[in-house]
Amino acid sequence: MTIQAHGGELINRELKGTEREEALQKAKLLPTLTLSDWALSDLELIGIGGFSPLIGFIGKKDYESVLHNARLEDGTIWSIPITLSASEQETEKFEIGDEIALKGEDDVIYGTLELDEKYSYDKQLEAEKIYGTTDENHAGVKKLYARGDVYLAGSITLLNRPTHPGFEAFYKDPIETRQLFKELGWKTIVGFQTRNPVHRAHEYIQKSALEVVDGLLLNPLVGETKSDDISPEVRMESYQVILKHYYPKERTSLVIYPAAMRYAGPKEAVLHAIVRKNYGCTHFIVGRDHAGVGDYYGTYEAQDFISQFEDELGIQIFKFEHAFYCTKCENMGTAKTCPHEKENHVHLSGTKVRELLRNGEKPPKQFSRPEVAEVLIKGLQEAVPVE
Ligand code: ADX
Repeated sequence: MTIQAHGGELINRELKGTEREEALQKAKLLPTLTLSDWALSDLELIGIGGFSPLIGFIGKKDYESVLHNARLEDGTIWSIPITLSASEQETEKFEIGDEIALKGEDDVIYGTLELDEKYSYDKQLEAEKIYGTTDENHAGVKKLYARGDVYLAGSITLLNRPTHPGFEAFYKDPIETRQLFKELGWKTIVGFQTRNPVHRAHEYIQKSALEVVDGLLLNPLVGETKSDDISPEVRMESYQVILKHYYPKERTSLVIYPAAMRYAGPKEAVLHAIVRKNYGCTHFIVGRDHAGVGDYYGTYEAQDFISQFEDELGIQIFKFEHAFYCTKCENMGTAKTCPHEKENHVHLSGTKVRELLRNGEKPPKQFSRPEVAEVLIKGLQEAVPVE
């Protein structure tokens, strides 16, 4: 039995073969809109069904419903508006009913949009409702404020998938991951979202989940992230190393998640779960401060938020408390399993870890596997030469 896609049907908006050739020829004559990498990754995810049941960029009614109720207008749970922005000036040339060619900054036509609607929106309101803050220092809010003032809505067709240089071997669409799980004989699969290298706490919660399910889909986000996050290239290398040395090969699979990071904490946790359901996962991990940034969200806010949808989501949520290494237990644990005082727990902030790595120093092995630290040190030193 495979898990149902969100909304019931796995969407596929991609054309192939001669149909695609013809559509591409036609698209060359259409008015064009150039998409940011963020919008392009949304186009891809709609096209391949990662964002099922969406078939395009959402219109005003769905938008308002998502903002206020975390649901599409028809009641389907949906927590983050997937929208296509453009400036007023760009928008003027498009009429409702137009077909628009969607290009990347590289001038390649990636798809088309059937324009159903153009609408203005309130950025502050979206920031407040989705990110829980209007502070422009929030990485997601900052990107929102920089967007064009108009949203263009309508169904899309995907004509070219964006490329993922260097990650081809780790690219699978939802049809392919579903097929893979079937071939591997996995009936229960836990999806793991990350935008960081895998450290010991990640490993602990993944393996705790692996004790009760058949397989782990390590599904790192490799789209746009904020500039001080570790690059996807370095991270991908680190994932391969940790899997090779510490994970059972036949029970783990590494597949990229080609989305942009929004840092929307609770709201993004729900989106992350829905997408992994579409990829065929039966379970999804939400740990401490999932998809958070800075101090904008409480440690368990994402878990609390997703809880209200659990009966309806169609994917089971594994919630894990803040995990750490305890020097007295000589083991990983959480407040649920470790009785010792905080001073026995190994904690390092992301900033501290990056500082150590940049200086060529390995974080303690209770925090990070040495093989992973090595990859990160090399990667970070190459990215930011140390004087
Ligand atoms: S995220 O932005 O992709 O959520 P990160 O890669 O740090 O960030 O986290 C991946 C997943 O691991 C999230 O579900 C997060 O809540 C969880 N997580 C990260 N660190 C810990 C920790 N120390 N204890 C428990 N869960 C954690």
